[in-house]
Amino acid sequence: MSYTARRYEFHDKPADYALLAQELTALLAGESDLVANAANSAALIFAALPEINWAGFYFLRGGELVLGPFQGKPACVRIALGQGVCGAAAVQRRTMVVPDVQKFPGHIACDMASRAEIVVPLLDGARLLGVLDIDSPRNGRFDDADARGLEALAALLVKASVGSARAPAG
Ligand code: SME
Repeated sequence: MSYTARRYEFHDKPADYALLAQELTALLAGESDLVANAANSAALIFAALPEINWAGFYFLRGGELVLGPFQGKPACVRIALGQGVCGAAAVQRRTMVVPDVQKFPGHIACDMASRAEIVVPLLDGARLLGVLDIDSPRNGRFDDADARGLEALAALLVKASVGSARAPAG
């Protein structure tokens, strides 16, 4: 395992996400447990990304999203598919970038400090395992470069954990 505890400046988002992807690859090497890998992924992302107040996962279980490993304030445990930003990303199986959560119909407020949000679906091919959810206290915090960078991190997590993903996603 290797972890530099580096806090990235993110002036060059593609370059910094590429470095973060290398760091995540090293962190997940040799481990396939989805929960353990999601926990370390949340910790790495929360430590590395500036201007965020929550980073974590919801897993698809029994037809709804259930809270998984995260960093930040305690959050709502269950989210129905189609509800909130997480439920929308899960149903549409695409990354949702929300510049202003107060303008997103049905947004679920877990931390009142959150102003912007990005949710990336965890996909094993067509199979949805869950979502990666990140909140920011700054309006407009996330853009397309964040979407592409975080999609790459989510893909690394799925690839590393796909062998054990079936049970918790059940
Ligand atoms: N805001 C999310 C709910 C999860 S919390 O942000 C951790 C949503 O609208 O789905």
